Amino acid sequence: MGLSSSQRRRLSAAARRAARSAYAPYSKFRVGAAVLAGSGRIYTGANIEDASYGLACCAERTAVFQAIAEGERRIAAVAVFTPTPKPTPPCGACRQVINEFGPRAVVVCTCRSRERVVATLDQLLPDAFGPANLR
Ligand code: THU
Repeated sequence: MGLSSSQRRRLSAAARRAARSAYAPYSKFRVGAAVLAGSGRIYTGANIEDASYGLACCAERTAVFQAIAEGERRIAAVAVFTPTPKPTPPCGACRQVINEFGPRAVVVCTCRSRERVVATLDQLLPDAFGPANLR
């Protein structure tokens, strides 16, 4: 799936490291994400919560927005690390945001164990609504 095993490992390691920056005092669920963007650069993010609970932003969206804010427009891959025994694929909102910039992106989900899930965004969000639907 369009990502060498060394790229996959590098991206997953960046996601795991990024979880250390999570601001998750309410859920205590510290998530990290890393985006491999069109330029080849890696951008990271972590979940950011708020005392107004509904305003939390997932790690994946933080990382995607970081990449876009730095001028990237294409996303080749996203890695997400959750502090769980099993890998956790991105929530629906994050799938939609990843779709905007990487409808074929590879999504790599890692966790505390050695288990991982690797899927493409279009597998996780089939028949997605995207920019083409506005034409
Ligand atoms: N969260 C993420 O950052 N990514 C996910 O894929 C699922 C959930 C965050 C949001 C919230 O801060 C906490 O995890 C609990 O839902």
